[in-house]
Amino acid sequence: MRIAIDGPAAAGKSTVAKMIAKKLNYVYIDTGAMYRALTWKALETNTDVHDENSLGALADQINISFENTYSGQEVLVNEQNVTKEIRNHEVTNNVSYVAQHAKVREKLVEMQRDLAKEGNVVMDGRDIGTFVLPNAEIKVFLVASVGERAERRHRENLDKGFESDLEQLKEEIRRRDKIDSERDVAPLIKAEDAVEIDTTSKSIEEVANSILSLVQSKN
Ligand code: C5P
Repeated sequence: MRIAIDGPAAAGKSTVAKMIAKKLNYVYIDTGAMYRALTWKALETNTDVHDENSLGALADQINISFENTYSGQEVLVNEQNVTKEIRNHEVTNNVSYVAQHAKVREKLVEMQRDLAKEGNVVMDGRDIGTFVLPNAEIKVFLVASVGERAERRHRENLDKGFESDLEQLKEEIRRRDKIDSERDVAPLIKAEDAVEIDTTSKSIEEVANSILSLVQSKN
């Protein structure tokens, strides 16, 4: 069984995907982390985030991998642990530019399909149901209002002891969604056969249980 979870920024995809993967003992694949890892490397090497050829070449050169540890999933670029770095502001504000390019997506989608080929995976992103795994048995599209999504991220930041500005978060989320949905290659859009779940007034457990019910109905 392959479970595809798509949706706009900060809609709770990764939290829900991790919970489902744990319950079902499936592998969780965070495709956003892969675009973030390449973006981190681009910023590190002063590669222009608008230069498709250079980014495509960079994607060919680097090795992105995941490592599951007791404290969660770690992201490695050429053996360097970049789990924290890929969540910083600079990466977040540039990742949608990097992810716009066909040459970048070609390379990362190939890696994603390869990671999913054994099945029993939960994969989250923007184009999983439409493009990466169009034959996934379960497709879910999570949505929530911008206000709700920014509030959740804001609370998360404050809980972690990070500085956080709610209005700035709203702006960043709006901007990222706009670039992700308007790009030419595999834009953010609900797959025709995806089940849409509005998470605005739902808890993570409620959303995860709705998806688990869908899985049960397929068994
Ligand atoms: O999921 P996350 O917010 O970490 O994704 C970061 C960015 O990576 C998205 O805003 C989008 O630009 C890009 N992305 C994508 N396709 C995916 C997953 C993420 O274009 N499947």
